[in-house]
Amino acid sequence: MNQRRVYDAIIIGSGIAGLNAAHAFDKNKDVLIICKENSWDCNTFYAQGGVAVAVDEKDIPSHIADTLSAGAGLCDEKAVEILCREGRDEVADLIARGMEFDKDEKGEILYTKEAAHSRNRIIHAGGDATGREIHHFLMRENPHQLLYHSTVIDLLIDGAFCHGVRIYNEIDKQCRNYYAKSVIIASGGIGALYAYHTNSKTISAEMQGIALEHGIALRDMEMTQFHPTVFIHNKGARKQLLTEALRGEGATIVDENGYRFLFDYDERGELSPRSVVSKAIFDYKAKTGQKVYLDFQNFDDAFFKERFPTIYFNMKDVGYNLPHDRVPISPAFHYMMGGIKTDLNGKIPGFENLYAIGEVASTRVHGANRLASNSLLEGLVFSKRAVRDILERGVYFKLKTFEEKCDDLIKEGDHQRKDLLREIMWNDVSIVRTQEGLAEALGKIETHLRENIGKLLRLRLLVSKEIVKSAMLRKESLGAHTITSSDS
Ligand code: SIN
Repeated sequence: MNQRRVYDAIIIGSGIAGLNAAHAFDKNKDVLIICKENSWDCNTFYAQGGVAVAVDEKDIPSHIADTLSAGAGLCDEKAVEILCREGRDEVADLIARGMEFDKDEKGEILYTKEAAHSRNRIIHAGGDATGREIHHFLMRENPHQLLYHSTVIDLLIDGAFCHGVRIYNEIDKQCRNYYAKSVIIASGGIGALYAYHTNSKTISAEMQGIALEHGIALRDMEMTQFHPTVFIHNKGARKQLLTEALRGEGATIVDENGYRFLFDYDERGELSPRSVVSKAIFDYKAKTGQKVYLDFQNFDDAFFKERFPTIYFNMKDVGYNLPHDRVPISPAFHYMMGGIKTDLNGKIPGFENLYAIGEVASTRVHGANRLASNSLLEGLVFSKRAVRDILERGVYFKLKTFEEKCDDLIKEGDHQRKDLLREIMWNDVSIVRTQEGLAEALGKIETHLRENIGKLLRLRLLVSKEIVKSAMLRKESLGAHTITSSDS
C-alpha cells in the first residue's frame, strides 16, 4: 500500500477543461491526465467558431442576457453570471499566458458574430480552427504527465471519497487502477450515441454511464443540442461541422431553388438560435422533400480561404470548391447541455474530492439550450474554479486500494448493437420527439440492456436510457427539447 503512487489529482480528459485544470495545479503537483486515445481526440480540438466573451465590462450584462435567453428559463443565473464575469478574466489570463487569437491589421482582436448573440463577441484563432489552436497551446504549456489510449472503466468509490480510477489500456490490453487525492472528470459529452454527430469519435458517454452505475445524479439529459449546418455525407458517425461563424459572416441557408426559407420560421433568419434553425431545416425537408444547402455567394475567394481555411480544405477533400459551391446540410447532434450534476465549483454533491467540469458537467450554465461558443469559455472558467476549490479545501483521507479486475468490456455483437443504438437515438430521440417514439426507443434500449453485452455498451445504453426517460418526463417543448404529438 505504501508503495502505491498516489497522484495529487487525476484528470479524465484532455479538452480545454481538463488541460486548463491541469495548468491550474502547480507544476510540482503530481497530476495525471488520462486520454482515451490521443490527446487531440476531444471535442475542443474540433471546435471551429470560437470563444464567446464580453468585449468589455459594459458588455457583461448583455452576454448574460443572451445566455439566459438561449437557455430558455432553465439556466442557473448564478452560474451564468460567473461564466460571463469570470470568463473575461480567464480569457485575459489565457492571452497573457501566450495564446494568440486572430487580430486585424492594427493588432486589435477580431470579434465575430454567431447566432443569438446580440453583438459581435466571439474571438477566434487560426480562422476557423479555434479549438485546435487552443488545444495546441494548452498542450505546449502543460507540464503534467499524460496517459494515452486508456479508457476509464470505473471510478474507485468508497463512501464520500473517490480514490482513483480503473482504466483499460488499449496498447497492452490491461486494466489498471490509478489512485489520487482528487479526481476531476472532464471527459466531454455523448456524441457517439447518435448516428450523426460533430463530436470526436472518443466521446461516447462512459463517464456519464459510470456515474449512473454509482448512483451519481445526472441532470437535464433531455437537453441535447443539434447543430444546424453539418455536412453528413462523409463516412463514419462523426460529420463535418460548418461553423455558425459562416452564417455570422454572411453564408445563407437555401432550398434547391435558392429560396431562404428560414425567414418563414423566424424573422432572424440565419441568425436565429441554433435550435430554431435545426428544427426549421428538419421541418422544411420533411414538408417539401427538398434538399437544403449552405450557400456562400456573399464571400470572395481570398477572404473565405483566410477566414475559414479548415472548412475550405476539408470540403475540397470531398469535392466542393468553396465559396463557389453550395454544400448540402443537415442538422446533427452537437452538444449535451445536461450532465453530471455539480455545484458551481464543479464538485459533485455527496463527494469530498470528486469533480466534473466542461461538457460532462451540469452546472445549468447553458440551461435548455447553449448559446454558441459559450462552451470553450465554460471549460476555462469552471476548470479554474474546481482546482481552486480542491486546493482550498485540502481534503485528506485514508486511501483504500481496490481489486484490479477487468470486466468483460466488449462482447460479441456489441459493435452491431452500438450501431443500432445510434439509429434508435437518431430516429426517435433527436430534433423532434414524440411520446410514442420515445416509448419505442425506451423499449428497444431495455431489450439490449437485457442481452449478454459488454460493459462499454451497457454504459452507452444506460446513458441513452437516461436521455429517453428525461425526455419522456418533460412533456412540454423547451429550448433544445421539442416534443410534439405523433399526428401533428
Ligand atoms: C460552431 O462553430 O458553430 C460551433 C460553436 C459552438 O458549438 O459553440
